[in-house]
Amino acid sequence: MKETLELGTMFGAPTEQEVQLGELLNEAASLDKIRIVNTGTEATMHAIRLALHYTKRKKVLKIKGGYHGTHPFNFDSEFVESVEFNSSKKIKEKLSGGEFACLILEPVMGNMGVINPEDGYLEDVREITERTGTLLIVDEVITGFRTGFFPYYSTERIDPDLATFAKIIGGGLPMGAYGGREEIMKEVRPSGTFPQAGTYSGNPVSVAAGLETMRILSSKDYSKLRRLTDIAVKHLAESGLTVNSQTGMLSMFFSDKRVSRASDALKSKKDLYLPLFREALERGIYLAPSYDETIFISFVHSEKEVGETFQSLSEEAERLWKASSR
Ligand SMILES: Cc1ncc(COP(=O)(O)O)c(C=O)c1O
Repeated sequence: MKETLELGTMFGAPTEQEVQLGELLNEAASLDKIRIVNTGTEATMHAIRLALHYTKRKKVLKIKGGYHGTHPFNFDSEFVESVEFNSSKKIKEKLSGGEFACLILEPVMGNMGVINPEDGYLEDVREITERTGTLLIVDEVITGFRTGFFPYYSTERIDPDLATFAKIIGGGLPMGAYGGREEIMKEVRPSGTFPQAGTYSGNPVSVAAGLETMRILSSKDYSKLRRLTDIAVKHLAESGLTVNSQTGMLSMFFSDKRVSRASDALKSKKDLYLPLFREALERGIYLAPSYDETIFISFVHSEKEVGETFQSLSEEAERLWKASSR
């Protein structure tokens, strides 16, 4: 980043490193073409706009509790509707009329705590969207390169029409990207007529951070991350609460029932989260302050740190849970 900074921060044109990052992402995510932008919000907003442009349809379908940024397409309106996660039946009902340009979803939900897709769900979603001419946008802003050096959709052998990335691919600096099939992406100007630009898109310093991060991650052993996550889950589950996880990400719900969609998560005793957050701080553990945020595990954490942290958290969660059930 320092070396890149000295060469200049702003050219109004792609740099060599941006092209390298684009090529690396295309290859790792099996995409034909990709555009670098500045945030996950921009990536999903432009992917949705592109779907509206490409299909010439007017509506957007999303998943209840799914988060894609703070643009208007993230919120229900006369143009945006949402259905529960893990119900392909609901998706089929909505899409059968051919009104929706796209369905956008996180393959593993990460903004209502962690909610995993049930077996066959993503495959069904791919089949229904394809059949109804609805573009499938998989939002990998959280999951991309987190569970392994690939987007989550490749573990389920799903080919989305468009995919979005941010967070990890920027190595801690502002960065997002959207990409997909050639036929759709070639609509983006200057090759096509879909307008999308950004003064700071692909800024050299973010690109340098992203490129280096991706190079480091490409040789990482993600089984270490799985092991660390398993340790965290084992301790947390001792509290009796429902714990959902995916490699590198987990969350607890103040509930003893299965959580497989937003309405399940909303039924948990969310009010217990703030006391847990405060008590965790007292114990030297900084959790995300909001109950619906995911806990992430990093390669830099050690087994000892994860073990001690989650054992301590589990004790407190169990105490609060039992006290509330009395
Ligand atoms: C799945 C998902 N999509 C999009 C976004 C928006 O990304 P950003 O905060 O970079 O705009 C987020 C942010 O947390 C996210 O979790």
